[in-house]
Amino acid sequence: MNKSYIFLFVGLFILGSCKQQSSSTADVTAEALSDYQEVFRPQYHFTPETKWMNDPNGLVYENGVYHLFYQYYPDAIVWGPMHWGHATSKDLVHWEHQPIALFPDELGYIFSGSAIVDSKNTSGLGTAENPPLIAIYTYHDPKGEKQGRNDFQYQGLAYSLDHGVSWEKYENNPIIPNTNSIRDFRDPKVFWNEQLSAWTVVLVAGDHMQLWKSSNLLDWEYMSDFGKDVGAHGGVWECPDLFELKVEGSDQTKWVLLISINPGAPNGGSGTQYFVGDFDGTSFTTDQKESKWIDLGTDNYAGVTYNGLSDDKRLFIGWMSNWSYAQETPTKKWRSAMTLPRQLGLKRVEEELILTSYPVESISSIVTSSDSNSFELESNSSKEFKQEELSTSKVQFHIKGSVELKLKNDGGEELILSISDSGSIVIDRSKSGLVDFSENFFAEIKADFIPKEINEVELYVDASSVEIFINKGERVMTARMFNKANYSSLEVLNTTDSTIEVMDFSISTVKRIWD
Ligand code: FRU
Repeated sequence: MNKSYIFLFVGLFILGSCKQQSSSTADVTAEALSDYQEVFRPQYHFTPETKWMNDPNGLVYENGVYHLFYQYYPDAIVWGPMHWGHATSKDLVHWEHQPIALFPDELGYIFSGSAIVDSKNTSGLGTAENPPLIAIYTYHDPKGEKQGRNDFQYQGLAYSLDHGVSWEKYENNPIIPNTNSIRDFRDPKVFWNEQLSAWTVVLVAGDHMQLWKSSNLLDWEYMSDFGKDVGAHGGVWECPDLFELKVEGSDQTKWVLLISINPGAPNGGSGTQYFVGDFDGTSFTTDQKESKWIDLGTDNYAGVTYNGLSDDKRLFIGWMSNWSYAQETPTKKWRSAMTLPRQLGLKRVEEELILTSYPVESISSIVTSSDSNSFELESNSSKEFKQEELSTSKVQFHIKGSVELKLKNDGGEELILSISDSGSIVIDRSKSGLVDFSENFFAEIKADFIPKEINEVELYVDASSVEIFINKGERVMTARMFNKANYSSLEVLNTTDSTIEVMDFSISTVKRIWD
């Protein structure tokens, strides 16, 4: 369904939504233990305490603090009038909930956007001694939309003079009006453009992105656009990001453009594509022909990167869900989670430049150490590992050949991961737990990999999510599953005709981050 219609109809749907839980869901969540230990609740991923969350917003590092703002609706567990929720962290692992940062106002709901420290006070909204933290976001005016207008999305600005605790809306909003009446005109990502010595915003306009520039963050001038005829266009473009990365092992740098689209992802529903190219300060160009995806699973959407970090630290967080079923997932008190924060890189693999993503270093602080061992599996044999805490674990190994993994519990639920030496990976979640809450909860998730050679596999399992990193993030798959009981056994199977070798195999418990 066209996303704009979702925005329109969802408001009508909100009132009835709380009654829409299936009876099986009600049963399961009734068994909830206590806060942050409810069934399905990730233990080491960020989730809101209660109610609905979608995109990460305003990712900015300031004064030793990582800010995570996010699309939030505090009155229901489905999408509604958007606010910016807020959390902070000193290590990107442990999070502290903060009061809601931005509330809807007479100009509309507060849609996705970004934040920056205006360290030279170019906006004049702070002082040289106390520079402002600036948020640039989209206003979505529901009245304009209802009236059938096309100019109901435009960009606004808010600022904070106390490091993100309290926020003022800029008095002359909007800062980028929608003068050309573009229906989907949103999700500004602001960054400092060294080449022009100016602020730059990349935002989306229906089927393409646009670049704008400003000297003071308040007055903006259009520069260029990109993408009408390039890449995947299964749905409108959303949540762009543009940044420079060094190609691993060389002095070369390239620019990467992230674009989320919904629908149109390889496994259905929403997904995030990327383009590798060049940016001359004004325009982005690429000779990339095919669509590339930052994550080949189903559940990593609208992800963007942090402002305020050094060039070698390009850190990304995505929304761990999919618009195809996000509003129906079987939780009762809260909905959705963020991916693990990931460090992005560019790597030349088999002549191709690929965007790598890999959990940030600090995650290792909650991964307990464990022994590893290597073993052989004869044709059609398997080895089973029983472990109570498999549902919050990291599984890691090296492999030559094809292998199958089954995460299982006593309730007969299983999540199957098949890795083939031809380079394909399949996640089968058809028996992984609750699956019938939405007909769009795609049972089988497939990815074909380049490079074909899969050497190292790392799996982060957290209650209702699995994140798979191949060869230190050369390829990634993220998926949600809703097993009613914790997984407690992992079977490693060889379904091929020849013996395989599984090396350096370990299962480590990952500690919960909530006290
Ligand atoms: C992406 C998105 C954005 C929009 C926000 C609204 O998931 O559709 O384009 O700003 O969500 O909540």
